[in-house]
Amino acid sequence: MPTTSTTTPPDLTAFLVAHKAMKAEYGRLADVAAAVDPADGDRVAAVEAHIAFMIKYLHHHHAPEDNDIWPALRLADPSAVAVLNRLEADHADIDVLLEQIGDRGRTPAQRAPILRELQARLADHLTLEEREAVPLIRRHLTQELLEEVHEKIMKSWDKPDLPFLFGIAVTYANKAETDHLLTTVPWFVRLLWRLVMRPTFNRRMRQVYGA
Ligand SMILES: [Fe+2]
Ligand SMILES: [Fe+2]
Repeated sequence: MPTTSTTTPPDLTAFLVAHKAMKAEYGRLADVAAAVDPADGDRVAAVEAHIAFMIKYLHHHHAPEDNDIWPALRLADPSAVAVLNRLEADHADIDVLLEQIGDRGRTPAQRAPILRELQARLADHLTLEEREAVPLIRRHLTQELLEEVHEKIMKSWDKPDLPFLFGIAVTYANKAETDHLLTTVPWFVRLLWRLVMRPTFNRRMRQVYGA
């Protein structure tokens, strides 16, 4: 796996936009899960679908950190071992919460406190990651490695999830980040986003969160 000191830091726009999304979306989802009327089948189904998506969202963010990014940093900078061990341990703790959040044997309202706990755990985890690991990524990893990882992540997503993946990014990205992210995908994906994916995402968000 190529790791080297580089003068051009890798582009972390998508990575940091995902952090912004994770810092807010689980809390928002906790509020709606606590309030949803169990007799409103369509709304419950939409909330369940969004919970399921946001569980995948976190798994698809943690897996490349654990499998690619942290190992590359361990090689590049042995002094980072303590913080990387802590970040890995956080992921394992968060996995336990994700399993409970995905348990449809409990109503959304019963899982709302776990979504809140996840939100709080993520706030600490992401703060540590941004303070300690992001500078190491910028210092030691190449754009090529990050692109390789990004490609692997994109291949691991199921196609029907893509409207929600792009939609969550656009929800939390600022204008400059959105414009930049749109330049990183092929023209036909931009077209598909406008014509198909954005309406699909907006419809789901209206079902989950209301108008
Ligand atoms: Fe992260
Ligand atoms: Fe992480």
